[in-house]
Amino acid sequence: MRYGHFDDEQREYVIDRPDTPLPWINYLGTDAYYGIVSNTAGGYSFYRDARLRRLTRYRYNNAPLDLGGRYVYVRDDATGDYWSPSWQPTPERELDDYECRHGLSYTRIGSARGGIRAETLYYAPLGETLEVWRVRVTNERETSAELSLFSSIEFCLWDAQDDATNYQRNFSTGQVEVADGVIYHKTEYRERRDHFAYFACSEPLSGFDTQREAFLGPYRGWDRPAAVENGAATNSIAHGWQPIGSHHVRLSLAPGATREVIFVLGYAENPKDDKFDPPGSQTLNKTRVRPLIERWLRSEQVQMGYEDLRAYWDDLLGGLNVRTPDGDTDRMVNVWNAYQNLVTFNMSRSTSFYESGIGRGMGFRDSNQDLLGFVHMVPERARERILDIAATQKADGGAYHQYQPLTKRGNNDIGDGFNDDPLWLILGVAAYLKETGDHTFLDEQVPFDNVPGSEVPLYEHLRRSLKYTLDRLGPHGLPLIGRADWNDCLNLNCFSDTPGEPFQTTENASGGVAESVFIAGLFVLAAKELAVIAGLRGQDGEEAVYRAAAEKMSGTISEHGWDGAWFRRAYDFHGNVIGSGENDEGQIFIEPQGMCVLGGVGLDDGLAARALDSVAERLATPHGIVLQQPAYSSYRIELGEISSYPPGYKENAGIFCHTNPWIMIAETMVGNGDRAFDYYKRLNPSAREEISETHRCEPYVYAQMIAGRDAPTHGEAKNSWLSGTAAWNYVAITQWILGIRPDFAGLRIDPVLPSGWEGFEAVRRFRGATYEISVRGSGRIDHLLVDGTRVDGDLIPPAAPGSVVRVEAILA
Ligand code: BGC
Ligand code: NOJ
Repeated sequence: MRYGHFDDEQREYVIDRPDTPLPWINYLGTDAYYGIVSNTAGGYSFYRDARLRRLTRYRYNNAPLDLGGRYVYVRDDATGDYWSPSWQPTPERELDDYECRHGLSYTRIGSARGGIRAETLYYAPLGETLEVWRVRVTNERETSAELSLFSSIEFCLWDAQDDATNYQRNFSTGQVEVADGVIYHKTEYRERRDHFAYFACSEPLSGFDTQREAFLGPYRGWDRPAAVENGAATNSIAHGWQPIGSHHVRLSLAPGATREVIFVLGYAENPKDDKFDPPGSQTLNKTRVRPLIERWLRSEQVQMGYEDLRAYWDDLLGGLNVRTPDGDTDRMVNVWNAYQNLVTFNMSRSTSFYESGIGRGMGFRDSNQDLLGFVHMVPERARERILDIAATQKADGGAYHQYQPLTKRGNNDIGDGFNDDPLWLILGVAAYLKETGDHTFLDEQVPFDNVPGSEVPLYEHLRRSLKYTLDRLGPHGLPLIGRADWNDCLNLNCFSDTPGEPFQTTENASGGVAESVFIAGLFVLAAKELAVIAGLRGQDGEEAVYRAAAEKMSGTISEHGWDGAWFRRAYDFHGNVIGSGENDEGQIFIEPQGMCVLGGVGLDDGLAARALDSVAERLATPHGIVLQQPAYSSYRIELGEISSYPPGYKENAGIFCHTNPWIMIAETMVGNGDRAFDYYKRLNPSAREEISETHRCEPYVYAQMIAGRDAPTHGEAKNSWLSGTAAWNYVAITQWILGIRPDFAGLRIDPVLPSGWEGFEAVRRFRGATYEISVRGSGRIDHLLVDGTRVDGDLIPPAAPGSVVRVEAILA
C-alpha cells in the first residue's frame, strides 16, 4: 500500500493522505539555518546548533504524534468554521483533498475545505538565516468569502535542553517585543544581547498574539485555539510563560480570487561590539533586520529565492546522473539518495524525527563515513569538515566520539575509547583525495584536541590514527575494541561486580583486553589506503611499512578471526570468542564479513566468497540482511547493550541498514553482481514504496534500521534519514555495482552488474571535467574508449577541467 507517489520530473515525493504511518519529514535549509518539516507541517527550526539555538518548540514523542510546528489556520468569518490546511493540528476538521509535496529543501502542503483552497510553501532561502512561508488562498466558491488567516509558532527559549526541563527558571524568562507588525522573540537578550528571532507578515495585521495561553485559551490545545475560534487575536504580550508568535490577517476574496500572504521567521545575531545595541540596552534595535524582513516579505523575492534554491540543487545533483534499466536505482541515485547524503552532511546525527537535536553532536566516525556520500557534490565543504574533525583528534591518535557543531570542540560527555574511530579519518581523507586529487591538503596544519600550538600536518594525523590501533593490540594480536567498535552496543569490556546488575556504562574497563575482528578488517583497509597515500607523497619507506602492517593484520585475521565458514566477530574481556559456531547465540555477525572483505582479506584464498555464502545462507532476509544470528534471547551482561534490545531490533539482529552495503560491495569484489544488486534492491526505499504499510518510514530515504526476522514487526523501518546507511548505499550502487569509482590516479569504470543488464548511461563530474559514460555489454570491463581512443583496463586519467569526455566502457 502507498501513501503517495514520486514525481520524478519535479523531484518531489507527493503524499496524498495526511495520515501516513509515521510523520514523513523533510529538511529546510542548506547552510546555517535549518528546520525539519513533516507532511502535516510539524517540526521546528534552529540556527546551526539544534540544541543551543533552537528557534521554535517541538515536543518529541508526543501524543498525538508530531504535534507542534508551522501551523496556519484558515477561518471562514461568515460561519465561524476554521481548520488548518496541513490537517494537523485540526485533524477532526475533514479536508476535501490534501497534498504534501516534499522537494529538495522545500515543502508544499495544501488542501481544500468548503471551497477554500490554501497551500503553503515552506523553504529557507540560500545564504539567509530565515525561512519563508508563502501561503496562497484561493476562493473556489461562486460567492465571495470573508476569511481570517492565523499563523502560529511556539518559541523555544533557545537552549532546547533547558527549555524542556528547567521550568522553575524558564517560566519567567520569556520576553517579546512587537513593532510594526513584527514579533521579536528576545529571551536571553538581557544578558547576552547577541541574538534574537523575528516573525513577520506581509499583510497589515488585524491583531497578533505572543502569549500561548491567550491565543489558545486556558486548558485548550492547538486543535481549537480560542483566538481562532473567536476570530480575533488578543494582542497579548508574553511576560514569561510560553512565548509564541501568531499573526491575524483578514482577507476578502471574490469568487475565483487568489491572495498570497507571506510569513518570515528568522534569526538575527548582533556583532560583538554592537554600536546599536550597547551593553545595558534592553530594546532591540530593529534597523538592522528591517530591510531584510521587508525584502523577504515581497512576492517576487520569495519566488526568486525558490528558483535559486531549485537551481542550487540542479547544480549539486549534476555531479552524477545515471540511466539504468532500473527505475528505483535511477531515482535514488539521481535524486533522493544524493539528497539524503547532503542532509547527513548538514545534520550529522542531530535532528530528525528520531534524533532530538540535544542528544548527539557531530560523530567522528559518522561524519567521516557520511563524507563518502557527499564529497563529489561539495568537495570544498568536505575539506572543511575533515579539518574540523581532525582538529578534535587527540595527540595519541584517539578521538572524541563526537563534537559540538557550534563550538567544534570534542564532546566530553561521551568521551572516547571507541577504538574504530580514528581509522575512519583515513577513509574520509582518502575519499577526498580520490575525488579531488588535492594532495596539498595533507600539508594543512591541524591541531590536536583544538589546542593552539599543537598543529601538525594533516598527514601526521593519519599516521597517528594507524598507530592508535597498533599501540592497542590484544592477546591474539587483534585490535582492542575499547568501549565499542562500529557496533556501539557490543560492549565487551563491560562487566558488573554484582552479578545480575545491569551493565554499568560502556566504559573501557581498565585492562580490558576484548578484541575486535571488525577493527582488524577496517585497519587492513585503512593501512592499504595510507600506504598508497604515503607512496604518492614519496614516502616510500612508510608505504612499505603500512603494507606490511596490513599484511600482518590480514594474517592475524586468517589465523584468529576465521571460524571455518565466516569471520569471527570478537574476543571478549575473558578471551571468549564472539560470533563463532561455538556460541549458542550470536554465532555469525555481518560486520566482519563485510569489512574484512573490503580490506581484501580472504579474496585470494576463497575465504571471502565462503564468508559471503554464509551471509546469504544465515543472515539474508527479504527485507535485508540482519546484523547477527541467532538473536540474543536474553540479556548478557558480558556483551553489554547489544543484548538489551529485544530480538530483531537494532543491534540485536535487526537489519542494521548501514552494514548491508558492505556486503553488496564485498559481493562485487568477488564478482557476484546478481547478489550485490539483489541486496541493494531489498533496501532501496523506492522499491519498498509498495509495502509502505509494513515499512512505515518515508519511501524516499533510507532508515537506519528495519526490524529483523526475529521481530514481530519484521520489515518495519525506524530511524529514517540520519544514518551512515545513506552514504554507504550510495557508494555501493554508484562506485561498485555501477562501478564509477574515483581513485587516486583517475576515474575508474569497473561495473559488476546484475545479469540481464545490457549496460547503462551515466554523466559524472570529476575534478572539473564532465564524463559522459556509456557502458555496454555484460561481464567485467574489457576496455574503454575515451574520446574514441582505446584504453586497456578500467582507469580514465583525469581530463582538463572544463572538458567534456566521451567514455565507452566495453564489458565482456
Ligand atoms: C543504539 C546505537 C546508537 C547509540 C548511540 C544505541 O543505543 O543502539 O545504534 O549508535 O545508541 O548513542
Ligand atoms: C549508530 C551510530 O551513529 C553509528 O556510528 C554506529 O556505528 C551504529 N549506531 C551501530 O551501533
